[in-house]
Amino acid sequence: MLENIKKVLVSQEAIIERSKEIGAQISKDYADKMPVLVALLKGSVPFAAELMKYIDIDMEIEFMDVSSYEGTKSTGEIKIIKDLDRSIKDCDVIIVEDIVDTGKTLKTVKELLYSKGAKDVKVATLLDKKYGRVVDIEADYVGFDIPDEFVVGYGLDFNQKFRNLPFVGVLKEECYRSENE
Ligand code: IMP
Repeated sequence: MLENIKKVLVSQEAIIERSKEIGAQISKDYADKMPVLVALLKGSVPFAAELMKYIDIDMEIEFMDVSSYEGTKSTGEIKIIKDLDRSIKDCDVIIVEDIVDTGKTLKTVKELLYSKGAKDVKVATLLDKKYGRVVDIEADYVGFDIPDEFVVGYGLDFNQKFRNLPFVGVLKEECYRSENE
């Protein structure tokens, strides 16, 4: 597995430290509320698990699966594979994402959660690829801004692999080049 990684972009230690900071900020911002974290499966699971440890106010966590990412390019089509199990009507929601690239996933999910009656929807993302953006949307809590490179690890996959790496790394191009040609 490690032989396919070109370099480590964000270390596990850095992710833990940044999660502590974001958790503290969310605890402050939502001091008089009870946020519902909506973690998007499967990529956000490690980050959501890390982040929630540092939120020291009452909160709940729910999961949704809306991914349609295939290979290394966004298809732009978003399927709801697993919907929420409960109502989020009048709730203060924080979507937890692994990475925002084009922003299409986030925009669609945000609109969907508002259409389900959420009072407010904010976004916490581990990684932000600002240069990949094609729709006008920004995350409210960002772990790390990263360059426009295909990354894996800490929940992020390439064809379902590499999610178990304890850091975020850049995948060697030869691993996916043949699929893009
Ligand atoms: P967007 O809709 O283009 O913003 O894509 C968001 C989703 O694409 C993320 O939740 C990831 O599943 C996937 N994605 C985007 N960039 C990468 C990457 O560099 N590595 C792995 N998955 C990625």
